[in-house]
Amino acid sequence: MKRMFSRRTSWILAPNRFTRAQQEMQTAGRELLDLTISNPTRAGFRYDRRAIFQALNHPSAMDYDPQPKGLSSAREAVAGYYRNRHEEVDPETVILTSSTSEGYSYVFRLLCNPEDEVLVPKPSYPLFEFLADLQDVKLVPYPLLYDHGWQIDLPSLYKAVNNRTRAVVLVHPNNPTGSFVAELEKTELNNFCRERGLALVVDEVFLDYAHDGGARPTFATNSDALTFTLSGLSKISGLPQMKLAWMVINGPAEQAAAALARLEVVADTFLSVSTPIQLAASTLVDQLHSIQPQLLERVTANLRELDHQLAGQKTCQRLSVEGAWCAVLRVPATQPDEDLAIEILRKQSVLVHPGHFYDFSSDGYLIVSLITPPDDFRKGIAKVLERLND
Ligand SMILES: Cc1ncc(COP(=O)(O)O)c(C=O)c1O
Repeated sequence: MKRMFSRRTSWILAPNRFTRAQQEMQTAGRELLDLTISNPTRAGFRYDRRAIFQALNHPSAMDYDPQPKGLSSAREAVAGYYRNRHEEVDPETVILTSSTSEGYSYVFRLLCNPEDEVLVPKPSYPLFEFLADLQDVKLVPYPLLYDHGWQIDLPSLYKAVNNRTRAVVLVHPNNPTGSFVAELEKTELNNFCRERGLALVVDEVFLDYAHDGGARPTFATNSDALTFTLSGLSKISGLPQMKLAWMVINGPAEQAAAALARLEVVADTFLSVSTPIQLAASTLVDQLHSIQPQLLERVTANLRELDHQLAGQKTCQRLSVEGAWCAVLRVPATQPDEDLAIEILRKQSVLVHPGHFYDFSSDGYLIVSLITPPDDFRKGIAKVLERLND
């Protein structure tokens, strides 16, 4: 069997201890308080179902007009998203994909030969590993350091670059640390990438979720280095099931034009976004006006509740967070995080993620989702703190 399949798919497929513990609890019929919810469609938000269904019922949906970058009306809708943020993006620089993950795959395919390297933040989002395996790309972590707030360890990032490095991934704001790339970091990285011939790949799926409500600038207008900005409906409009995402290609004119021309061929090979979804794009993007306020209200209310409960004890603190949908709890590192998360699951019936799921470099971190329904969040945090302070 081993020789039958590619090495890139030789993953360990057995569920890890944490997932097994979760399955055991569910099989035993134990009700869990889930503080790891990341799916907005199952978190009690109100969607304008009528507008969404109506938009999916477009008369032109029976016509097939294969456009590699996507239908111009849909790319205009993406440009409209940026215009609404007072940022100008040319729809001709937009390529539609079915997900941000697909966007990453296209960009890795464009930039990397097998075994080439891409720098990624640590801690960050766990999907990168699989995306990279599938594209034969080697991920090299660069650290984010915490000292009252998060910052990129730029000297370590520079040291991690070698002649196989092709790109630097930025997650703006990062998941789960909730940290945005600061203006100074952006300037430094632009200079560095331009000088070294590297591209920036910037994941902005949580861009609109700054907890202070202030808008943070996109990289989609960054012309100082070759930049691929990825975003999509899954977080922007809370519609992951619609499978519509995009990338914006920007940078020094000649490089950006060459990248766009090549990516058009990649996109033409798959033509992966369905026509009904493209025709509905402008309505689907518009849903952000009703969904983002709900999500932000939930996130800030849960953060307030968390701080209220944390104030009553001393064992656990939370790290400061600027945006996105998670909070990081600092807990005593007396045992591996996974053991602690399993203990909390078994004894308190509460699901939280251990820090190492997000590649934290040491033990002592638990991650909770701030989009959890408020009642569950309040009860779940109380039970977690009860255990930690036991
Ligand atoms: C930082 C980040 N990027 C991308 C994604 C996935 O987005 P999509 O559903 O568009 O693939 C996620 C999902 O949680 C995420 O956390």
